[in-house]
Amino acid sequence: MELIRTQPGEEFARTGASLIAQWLRDRPDALLVPAIGRTPTGIYSHLVDLHRASMLDTRRLRVAQLDEYLGVGVEDPRSLIGWLLRDLCDPLGVEPEGTIRLDATADDPSKSCRAYEDAVKEAGGIDIAILGLGRNGHIGFNEPPSGPDARTRVVDLSLSSRRTSRGYWTGSLPVPSHALTAGMDLLLGARRTLVVVSGADKKAILRRTLHGPQSPDVPASLLRSNPGVTLLADEQAWPDTSTSR
Ligand code: F6R
Repeated sequence: MELIRTQPGEEFARTGASLIAQWLRDRPDALLVPAIGRTPTGIYSHLVDLHRASMLDTRRLRVAQLDEYLGVGVEDPRSLIGWLLRDLCDPLGVEPEGTIRLDATADDPSKSCRAYEDAVKEAGGIDIAILGLGRNGHIGFNEPPSGPDARTRVVDLSLSSRRTSRGYWTGSLPVPSHALTAGMDLLLGARRTLVVVSGADKKAILRRTLHGPQSPDVPASLLRSNPGVTLLADEQAWPDTSTSR
């Protein structure tokens, strides 16, 4: 795993965006699976700037959703795919029809999970995953414990994940108790992965991710033995004992 340490804010966002842009230039038809949330927001806005400055061609880019709250449709203010379309796909000119989605409002959500897996496999698997780090070590919504074989599925959201989600929208809409997530098996199969971590509240879990036992109890720790993984963390999240490049 390659480790990159930056200053918080601008340097973190620019570094993440230029890394992703470089990977996309190497593979213009990549299937990208981007996390949503607080951490990658600045990175995505820099990526959009690069596209607007004609420094990133996204005409062949394909995007698959990483996760979604159960029962939440795209028009719902809580929707993660809604957020992804607004912040990334639309500004990058990726057609909504071209995205691979988790249908969280289907009568049988497990069937949507199977359809998603099939679509991702048919597309050739994930080329680039951009993953945030949950305070409990989750990636996507693969809550602990999630082993390497955990498939795309409906999960119970932990209290910690629900607390994080509560900060994602204004108003009094309840935080869903369940979500659909791309499985560990698909995520660990990504050809390249960028894990993004910022803020002092991630320091403890980043230490366990990098230095603790590799275990389903910290799903992100399973990325350590994967080739093609880069972890970008800012100074505030960086655990005191680790090395950087
Ligand atoms: C969201 C997702 C989650 C977040 C993680 C970190 O699509 O998959 O795993 O990436 O909870 O969230 P932030 O960045 O808001 O701290």
